[in-house]
Amino acid sequence: MRTTPAMRQLVAETQLSASDFILPMFVADGIEAPREIPSMPGQYQHTVDSLKKKVHEVLEAGVRCVDLFGVPRAEDKDATGSVAWDPEGILNRGVAALREEFGDDVLVMADTCLDEFTDHGHCGALSADRFGRTVVDNDATLPLYRAMAVAQAEAGAHIVSPSGMMDGQILAIREALDSAGFTDVAIMAYSAKYASAFFGPFRDAVGSSLQGDRRTYQQDPANIRESLLEVELDIEEGADFVMVKPALPYLDVLSEVAQVSPVPVAAYQVSGEYAMIQAAGQNGWVDLDRVMMESLVAIKRAGADQILTYFAEDAARALARA
Ligand code: PBG
Repeated sequence: MRTTPAMRQLVAETQLSASDFILPMFVADGIEAPREIPSMPGQYQHTVDSLKKKVHEVLEAGVRCVDLFGVPRAEDKDATGSVAWDPEGILNRGVAALREEFGDDVLVMADTCLDEFTDHGHCGALSADRFGRTVVDNDATLPLYRAMAVAQAEAGAHIVSPSGMMDGQILAIREALDSAGFTDVAIMAYSAKYASAFFGPFRDAVGSSLQGDRRTYQQDPANIRESLLEVELDIEEGADFVMVKPALPYLDVLSEVAQVSPVPVAAYQVSGEYAMIQAAGQNGWVDLDRVMMESLVAIKRAGADQILTYFAEDAARALARA
């Protein structure tokens, strides 16, 4: 059954397709030309113009969904991340530009989280708890997410994607979108998002101001039960997709979520996963193309319906050649 490529393809249980992929992209304010992200070879902070140009290439490769992150100017960051819901904020301008350029030919997803926009780099507003500790204030953050999601929908996002792991964020955003008339805007919930060191290069990519870590609001890598609970709650609150993130180190979580979820399950192959494969490939230590495709087919085999990956364009082109 493994004798020839045709035979292997005939019996393959898992097939990757360009339509599985979502490409995360970065649009930055105050830059004149695209800037390559040193720890993520081949990935760029884009200007609005270079973003549009790149999305044409990505679409031509067969990828029809992009996930946009905004990189504001340092001086525009504040304690609540208010540029996130300013229609002139960089992320909303990027979303609007893509919608204007591509209409419904490309699905535009927006990252709905404040960490790129806050001067402290956390995913929500801070306050002091009853012991005087500085904490992310879950409930004070929800109205900010509502405003951000509505601004993204107004800019034209097809999908909003809350990635801040606040309790109740899906319900809050669903209500806000519906009452503003955006009943058709979908929500991709980062449900099982781990407090992971694999996000390292992303922090460079967005010029993160974070000191410390997110262990009080993202999942503990040691655990799976709490992730299954988060998935269940997000679905009850109205999530249209749930997500597991990172992907490769968490395939067991992905597999369990895929078995129980009544909605599509996405997995995010994060910046650190991409950086490791790129670094080993560039050193000639592994075959970059083969490791790229093997990692993606493994993520799909484990149960992902959609894969967010910085390899989206390259993998789509590799599939078209195969
Ligand atoms: C939060 C967010 C992060 C990533 C996606 N959304 C960073 C974090 O939670 O610290 C990481 C993505 C990656 O590493 O590729 N807005």
